[in-house]
Amino acid sequence: MGGSKGEDKPAAGEDWCYQFGNKDTLIVKPSKKSPLALRMVVFAMTMICGIFICTMCMKQLGSDSWSRIVKIEVAEQSCNKSAIAPSEVHFVHYPQPITYSRSECMCTPVRYFAIISSQRSGSGWFETLLNSHMNVSSNGEIFSSKERRSNMTSIIKTLDKVYNLDWNSSASKNECTAAVGLKWMLNQGLVANHADVADYFNRRGVSAIFLFRRNLLRQLVSQLANNHDRYLKQLNGTHKAHVHTAFEANILARYKPRLNTTSLIRSLKQADDYTRDAIENLKSINHITIYYEDLIQNRTKVYDVLDFLKVPKKKLVSRHVKIHTKPLSEQIENWDEVYNALNGTQYESFLNADYRI
Ligand SMILES: *[C@@H]1O[C@H](CO)[C@@H](O)[C@H](O)[C@H]1NC(C)=O
Ligand SMILES: *[C@@H]1O[C@H](CO)[C@@H](O)[C@H](O)[C@H]1NC(C)=O
Ligand SMILES: *[C@@H]1O[C@H](CO)[C@@H](O)[C@H](O)[C@H]1NC(C)=O
Ligand SMILES: *[C@@H]1O[C@H](CO)[C@@H](O)[C@H](O)[C@H]1NC(C)=O
Ligand SMILES: *[C@@H]1O[C@H](CO)[C@@H](O)[C@H](O)[C@H]1NC(C)=O
Ligand SMILES: *[C@@H]1O[C@H](CO)[C@@H](O)[C@H](O)[C@H]1NC(C)=O
Ligand SMILES: *[C@@H]1O[C@H](CO)[C@@H](O)[C@H](O)[C@H]1NC(C)=O
Ligand SMILES: *[C@@H]1O[C@H](CO)[C@@H](O)[C@H](O)[C@H]1NC(C)=O
Repeated sequence: MGGSKGEDKPAAGEDWCYQFGNKDTLIVKPSKKSPLALRMVVFAMTMICGIFICTMCMKQLGSDSWSRIVKIEVAEQSCNKSAIAPSEVHFVHYPQPITYSRSECMCTPVRYFAIISSQRSGSGWFETLLNSHMNVSSNGEIFSSKERRSNMTSIIKTLDKVYNLDWNSSASKNECTAAVGLKWMLNQGLVANHADVADYFNRRGVSAIFLFRRNLLRQLVSQLANNHDRYLKQLNGTHKAHVHTAFEANILARYKPRLNTTSLIRSLKQADDYTRDAIENLKSINHITIYYEDLIQNRTKVYDVLDFLKVPKKKLVSRHVKIHTKPLSEQIENWDEVYNALNGTQYESFLNADYRI
């Protein structure tokens, strides 16, 4: 057996050469004096080089990421992607969570998204609507934590975890997740890092749902009422940003803020410019833009978002109850002053645009 082993080696070496083409171009012509010895030397050198390079690769990647890469390749290869349009391929993913196995959902394509919004724009309500869909997981305001948004490294680490389906939150589903995301407010490190974030989203195929509010005056009232409750904690000593009963909504809506009409126009302009600039800076991201007002006036508008996320149409529900439902004139203490301050300005429409619920 020992003899046959010695003969096997050069033969194996030859097979190896043939895979890459003409053996003459790859191997130094054996000299007539000791052809076998020389071929052995060349073969041994090649083996040593190969092993050395492999070891270096493994070391740099770490064995964890190495096995992950192998796993991802297996999944990518075994999932049938022929039904996915070429323009969509960049947005379709097959994540491999570390914390559990997707098992039968392994080949369910997953879309990555982020709800990009600002405080008091109905994004809390909107997110609960999306989460009532069995295949959608939106993990909430993850970047409300200062630590997670303190620098781009932290932000990317957090996003990677969410999009790898490893973020454990109440929104995590037992069903096959087909869209996973989070809610991200502009002032939570998003505007501050807009270029890097747009780059990340474009590189990893993440889509954005821009959700904003047209009536900035209503948004301001909602913000002031929310701040007020933060101090007073009107519902049995706890502060609530969102409520689930009309009874609670009425208690929170009782507060009528008095607006400073000297600084009002400047504040509205600031808020308007801030959002406009942000949308301009993030527009390279694959996105859909929706307005809170359109969502509450037209219940089918939310299906545009399901289409955008390519998840099946389902009836969506939320337990949230709207807090401010009355006309603005009944919700602002110094309404006449505010009216006079805004009448005839570019923000005049905020005074009149009231919706019926
Ligand atoms: C992939 O799916 C398509 C239909 O979507 C089917 O025609 C094709 O045979 C499938 N290929 C494999 C390898 O399963
Ligand atoms: C980024 O922020 C995290 C968390 O606050 C911190 O641990 C880390 O040192 C920071 N990294 C850099 C490069 O500043
Ligand atoms: C997620 O968190 C819940 C409760 O905190 C826990 O019961 C569950 O095991 C966790 N799931 C994973 C996959 O870590
Ligand atoms: C949604 O989840 C259900 C239940 O797990 C699954 O059967 C279905 O294929 C999923 N739909 C999509 C589009 O992923
Ligand atoms: C406060 O708690 C009491 C009893 O626990 C309950 O009956 C009442 O409805 C609560 N009030 C509010 C505003 O939540
Ligand atoms: C209203 O805003 C102006 C300008 O910011 C400020 O000087 C003034 O003190 C404010 N008035 C009240 C009552 O807060
Ligand atoms: C409601 O929204 C849907 C989807 O965007 C649209 O097709 C429809 O025309 C809208 N209806 C009204 C009354 O605006
Ligand atoms: C608003 O301004 C217009 C002129 O710009 C004036 O005619 C109108 O009376 C004003 N409305 C109120 C309620 O003051």
